[in-house]
Amino acid sequence: MGHGSGFGKTILFNEHFVVYGIPGVVSAIELTASAEVRRTEKGINIKDERKGAIGYTQKKLTQQKDSISRILKALGLEPELASLEILLGGELPGFSGIGASAASSVAIVRAIVDEYNLGLSKERINGVAYEAEKAYAGNPSGIDNTAATYGGLIWFRKSVIGRSNTIEKLSLRKPVEIIIGNTGIVADTKAMVEGVAARKKRNPVKFDQLFRQAEDLAFKARINLIDFNLRKVGVLMNENHQLLQEINVSCEELDYLVNLAREKGAYGAKLTGGGGGGCMVALTPGKKLQEEIATTMKNEGFQVLKTRIGI
Ligand code: MEV
Repeated sequence: MGHGSGFGKTILFNEHFVVYGIPGVVSAIELTASAEVRRTEKGINIKDERKGAIGYTQKKLTQQKDSISRILKALGLEPELASLEILLGGELPGFSGIGASAASSVAIVRAIVDEYNLGLSKERINGVAYEAEKAYAGNPSGIDNTAATYGGLIWFRKSVIGRSNTIEKLSLRKPVEIIIGNTGIVADTKAMVEGVAARKKRNPVKFDQLFRQAEDLAFKARINLIDFNLRKVGVLMNENHQLLQEINVSCEELDYLVNLAREKGAYGAKLTGGGGGGCMVALTPGKKLQEEIATTMKNEGFQVLKTRIGI
C-alpha cells in the first residue's frame, strides 16, 4: 500500500490574476488531505472519506476521475491498465477554495509514487499534480498544487513564456491566526476561470488596468508580510477583494461573510480561491479575535475553519 499527503491552502493575494502571470501570495494551512493507494484487480475505485465532502464529491466526481487518469499518464502508467483502490481522507474538508482538489491530487501522486517506488523529487510531484489540476481548473496557474506540494508561505508567479514558475518561500515572523468561512456553495473553478477569460476579452482596457493594480498590490503585500505589518496586510486584503469583485468572481454570500468578518474586527478579509461561492479568508491575529469571529459565523450557520498561515 502507498501513502501520501498534500497541504490545504488559502490564497492571500491575487487568485485569478495569477493565471495571467501576475504575482500572488499563497499560504498552506495546517490541514492536509491524505491518500492511500492499493493495487487491485478491478479498475480505478475511489473512496472519498474527507469531511464535509458529500456535495463536493458528487459535483467533482467527473473531474476527479479525469485528474486521476492525467496523473497516471504523467507518471508513465497506462490509465486503462491501472487497477487501483484510492482512499482519500485527512483533516482538510472538501470545501471549495481551500485547495481540496490540489491537496488530494498531491496526496494521490505521492501515494502512487510510494506504491510503485518511483522516487520522484518534490519538483516532479508538483509537475504531475499540475497535470491533475487541469481537470479541475482548465487553465490553472499552478498556485494550488505548488502550495499543496511545498507548504509554507509562498510568493508565486506563473511564467507566461513557458519557463519555470517563480516559487519563493517567504518567512513570517510567527504563524498568524486566520479564519476561513465557507458559503456552503460548491463552486466550479474551471467555469470561474473561463468566465474571467471571457470578460477580459470583452473589456481589455478595464482588465489591463485592474491587472496592473493587482500587480502593484502583490508587491506591497510581500513587503508588509515580511515586515510583519499585519494591519497593512489586512488593508491590502480588503483592496484585493475589491479587485476580485470588479472581475466578477465574488458573490453575495462571499461579500456577506467578508463584511461580517470586517465588522467584527478582522484586520482584513477577502474571498479565497476561485470564488463564485466556496470560501473567504479573514486575518484574525490572536486566538481571541479568531475565536470571536469564528463563533459569530458559526452562530449564523456557516462552517468555519480556524487555522494559521505561515506555518
Ligand atoms: C484557484 O484556487 C485559484 C485560481 O486562481 C485558479 C488558478 O490559479 O489556477 C482561481
